[in-house]
Amino acid sequence: MIFGDAFVEHGFTPNYGKVTPSDRPDLSQFQCNGALAAAKQIGHNPRALAERIVQRVAHNNIFEEVSIAGPGFINIKLADDYLVQYVMRMVEDKKLGCPTVVEPQTIVVDYGGANIAKPLHVGHLRSAIIGECLKRLARFIGHTVVGDIHLGDWGLQMGMIISELERRQPDLPYFDPMVTGPYPQEPPFTISDLEEIYPAVSQRAKTDDQILEAARQATFELQKGRKGYQALWQHIYNVSVVDLRSDYDRLNIHFDLWLGESDTQPLIEEMLEQLQSAGFATESEGALVIGVTETGDTKELPPLILRKSDGAILYGTTDLATIMQRVQDYSPNLILYVVDKRQADHFEQVFRSAYKTKIAPETLTMEHIGFGTMNGPDGRPFKTRSGGVMKLKDLITMITDKAMERVKNSELASAEPEQLVAMAQQIGVATLKFADLMNHRLKDYQFDLERFSVFEGCTGPYHLYMAVRINSLLEKAETRGLCTGGDLLPPSSEDEQQILLRLVEFPDVILAAFEQRALNYLCDYLYKLASAYSRFYHNHRILTETDLSRQASWLQLSQAVLVVLRQSLAILGIEVPKRM
Ligand code: ARG
Repeated sequence: MIFGDAFVEHGFTPNYGKVTPSDRPDLSQFQCNGALAAAKQIGHNPRALAERIVQRVAHNNIFEEVSIAGPGFINIKLADDYLVQYVMRMVEDKKLGCPTVVEPQTIVVDYGGANIAKPLHVGHLRSAIIGECLKRLARFIGHTVVGDIHLGDWGLQMGMIISELERRQPDLPYFDPMVTGPYPQEPPFTISDLEEIYPAVSQRAKTDDQILEAARQATFELQKGRKGYQALWQHIYNVSVVDLRSDYDRLNIHFDLWLGESDTQPLIEEMLEQLQSAGFATESEGALVIGVTETGDTKELPPLILRKSDGAILYGTTDLATIMQRVQDYSPNLILYVVDKRQADHFEQVFRSAYKTKIAPETLTMEHIGFGTMNGPDGRPFKTRSGGVMKLKDLITMITDKAMERVKNSELASAEPEQLVAMAQQIGVATLKFADLMNHRLKDYQFDLERFSVFEGCTGPYHLYMAVRINSLLEKAETRGLCTGGDLLPPSSEDEQQILLRLVEFPDVILAAFEQRALNYLCDYLYKLASAYSRFYHNHRILTETDLSRQASWLQLSQAVLVVLRQSLAILGIEVPKRM
């Protein structure tokens, strides 16, 4: 701000005054490099401009020193008094120093994307982890956010299951064309039946055309509204959703909306008619399509198919209708689609179609938030069983068991069994989520449970452990009657100084992580903060310190770190156990 104003006074835009943590922490705390670019723009000497900027700001007592290095870099060292006051204010603020957004946006986060009755794969898992975090981050910043799972509940997999059930149990009332209800309340299958049926039939459909054709026909009749099929669909849906919900709950992933492709059904016919009569959608070899490549488009893409020649509607059709629905329900400014990066072309087709047809108003931004794959040791997308499909439940069990090994071998082994289970689950979830979020989302990474589970280094358990340790330090201090809510004193050591400098970075990290949709910024930051605290903790005997105001300041500093750590972990969707 101060630097921004100084640049404005010299006729530049304020963004030249951007101050960032220094690349050379040994030389300065923060730096402002704007003078170089600004001077270049008008052909002036950057060092001379930097000098004028420095003259303008140097008298401000928030700085201890403002100096120029090299051709015009400005190095900044904050006054210690200012630093501690800033941190005190920050921790008292619910938003920890993050500025209130001037114009809160309405954002829909489309994430999870699980398919009903069809096995999940790691892409669904990553989408859920990343999307949940983006949702929490945007909400923390102050936007209005709705998270929607956008279930895949209307595709061929439904017809596969229905037709297979018909082969296996033809006498069920759902298949009798003379019966139109009421149908039994209880579904004629369990979740484990469903888990067996889908892979079995989809495997057979690969080589048996009749099976595939029956599935297509059933899908078609379901979509046309056949009563018995719809009743079965509802059973399949209910059974799957109960199961999915419990898995996502265990991962601390909570969707606000459980809508899906099927919810667009009432909109589709009318949408297609309108698009056709407005001339946006045209017939092409019996199919109905929207052309999405205009002259001047950077990328040439095939048309988006809205309806195939056999009458079936597709993934893109429901996506387009979903935009329509979201615009009606929420008038969002932004929709974020957290989906595997390999679907980039699909989204580009959908976005172009939506703008072209004005289904998406110009005020709406749509963004595909792609991500890479989580690979197994073989370098291929991770599977929990050798060659088998990934079941969320198996993965959760695997990470929880791993955490349980740890917990059982620690002094916590004597805790109540229920507590142990809860702890192991929290640690397991932290392990998985942190390992995922610490990579830039577009990067592929390898699932390595051993490496992710260690308590030292940049892992989920390390950060939990740090939070738990600070918490128990503060509890101990309280039972001994020590002051835990005192004033921060200017730092008496480099270790303290480093923690303070890290703490003040928090708001910038939050904003940058959201702007760049890069959750790894927050993970990197947390690791630096936790490591700085760890050094301080090792080098200082906090509880036995005899200078009581110094001790109170250290406890306050610990409190500040804990607050930031907890809030950041909460944004990552990670809960901190009471003990560990
Ligand atoms: N169900 C889809 C899949 O399994 C993901 C859905 C993503 N969201 C969307 N609006 N298309 O690939």
